[in-house]
Amino acid sequence: MTEKTYGGITPHTIEDAPSAKNQTEAFSQKQKRENPEDEPSNLDIGKLKQAGEISKKVKLFAREIIKPGVSLLEIANKIDAKIEELGGKPAFPINLSINEIAAHSTPAFNDTEKAHGLLKVDIGVHVDGYVADTAFSLDLENSEENKKLIEAAELALKSAIDKTQFNSELKEIGKAIEDAIKSLGFQPIINLSGHSINQYDLHAGVTIPNYDNNQTYKLKEGTYAIEPFATSGHGKVRDGKLSGIYHLENDVQVRDSFAREVLAYIKEEFSTLPFCSRWLVKKFGSRALIALKRLEEAHILHQYAQLVEIDRKPVAQAEHTIILTKSEKIVTT
Ligand code: CO
Repeated sequence: MTEKTYGGITPHTIEDAPSAKNQTEAFSQKQKRENPEDEPSNLDIGKLKQAGEISKKVKLFAREIIKPGVSLLEIANKIDAKIEELGGKPAFPINLSINEIAAHSTPAFNDTEKAHGLLKVDIGVHVDGYVADTAFSLDLENSEENKKLIEAAELALKSAIDKTQFNSELKEIGKAIEDAIKSLGFQPIINLSGHSINQYDLHAGVTIPNYDNNQTYKLKEGTYAIEPFATSGHGKVRDGKLSGIYHLENDVQVRDSFAREVLAYIKEEFSTLPFCSRWLVKKFGSRALIALKRLEEAHILHQYAQLVEIDRKPVAQAEHTIILTKSEKIVTT
């Protein structure tokens, strides 16, 4: 699941250094390590691999069940169930984004839309907060342009992964993505990006650009999602409709007792990972929607907007999660 950057620069990449938050985390991890050469304690490679293995099976399952005309709600419910059956939990609500919607679209509890067009399938799985984030695109209308866009996104992902290693500069990865997509005559979406991942933290501070943004920050050991988006439009997104995808932003008191109950469930069930109104309606009924509104108004929850290509042109996406250590690069998904 992607992260929107404004003008290609976020507070995390504006300086050639990790964010303050990451510095604090890195500091506390350093204190915990006896030998500084040890792997950082936020890398439970076993659980990251386990989440990745589940995500691979879920992708195969998704490719089997997604056909033109099948309802998005049915697809989402089946994939949610499959993740649980395989021993994982969704790390975020499945994104099923069609045509010019690049990302952050998930079915509502009463959704009636059917799969069609150029469909991006972005799946998150976690095991104890260790996340696998992976995406692919499907052409459901037999369009040559869609097929080429998908090829461009896949080629960009492959060439970005080839370029990525411990100490790679962000701009080298961005350039690999940009060059690959442009070589097929399309544009990368420059205000969407990949991201570092920590335990229960999907967007953990480092932004992986989808174009050469001149950032010389070097990748450290850690987990990263790389996710190029290719489009026949100009290559930017704007905010569209609200998505029904939320995450916990501030943990403060709320007066309404039912909203308090819903908030307690959110903290327990999702921690700081994204979740959606569909899941809460399943648990509490449709009155959950009122509680969500209260919590959003109190700035306790942030609701993501759908991300729409500015020329309303189709968008394809591909994504893998990788673990980097000083000596290894493991594609988990
Ligand atoms: Co992602």
